[in-house]
Amino acid sequence: MTGRRRPPPGEPIPSPNIWQWPQIYEVENRAQDADGSLFAALREVVGWAGRDIVDIGCGTGFHLPEFARDARSVTGVEPHPPLVPPARDRIAGMPGVRVLEGSAEHLPLPDRSVDVAHARTAYFFGPGCGPGISEAMRVLRPGGTLVVVDLDATVGEYGEWMRADLPHYDPAAVESFFAAQGFDLTRVVSRWEFPDRRALRAVLGIEFGPRVAERAFGQVPGLSIDVGYRIHTRRAPSGLVLG
Ligand SMILES: C[S@@+](CC[C@H](N)C(=O)[O-])C[C@H]1O[C@@H](n2cnc3c(N)ncnc32)[C@H](O)[C@@H]1O
Repeated sequence: MTGRRRPPPGEPIPSPNIWQWPQIYEVENRAQDADGSLFAALREVVGWAGRDIVDIGCGTGFHLPEFARDARSVTGVEPHPPLVPPARDRIAGMPGVRVLEGSAEHLPLPDRSVDVAHARTAYFFGPGCGPGISEAMRVLRPGGTLVVVDLDATVGEYGEWMRADLPHYDPAAVESFFAAQGFDLTRVVSRWEFPDRRALRAVLGIEFGPRVAERAFGQVPGLSIDVGYRIHTRRAPSGLVLG
């Protein structure tokens, strides 16, 4: 069990946090990775400098400018139509960056057209995401990498709140799924830093049910939380080795 019920094939997975509260999700994205450790780890496991990268389930495109700093091209793909215009507004005027409507199961990209396929807390939640893995392998060039970032519910207080909020979520089952699909795993702990306690409370309120959110708020004495992430990577075959 992953704790998430998958919708019928072809329909996006409901993401209440960003669908219903995009402004608070923006506050959350700004708070995340305050020490840069997650992006540093990502760059170490899969560099995108000078390469073509797709961000699958890009939401309002928050991470596209970071990729655009040194990628050759950046494509954000998002299935929820209301999020596409804000994502396009964010990257307006950035050369080589675009946002397309589409989903992990049907990427609007040609075969073998990108070097890195990235997804952060989007679609790839474990069992059931096989169609998206196959689709990513289709669009990756030989030797390219699919990199999936999700939250590590085994780490710290944030992990404990996740498990309390999603009692059927089984982090070990998700890891076994990715391992069986040929992914490598890197763990990172990153700091979320909020400007004030109002922002902290609002973000906890879109991530957890009211009971867990209120308890979590009481357990954070200041403005920061350590949050564990998992980085799952799988390389596309690099082609025939002759000899
Ligand atoms: C929690 S948000 C994360 C957004 C973005 N990756 C970020 O970190 O800011 C999850 C995103 O996945 C998208 N999503 C849902 N179903 C999807 C699918 N089948 N394929 C691709 N993305 C999907 C949602 O619409 C939403 O934008």
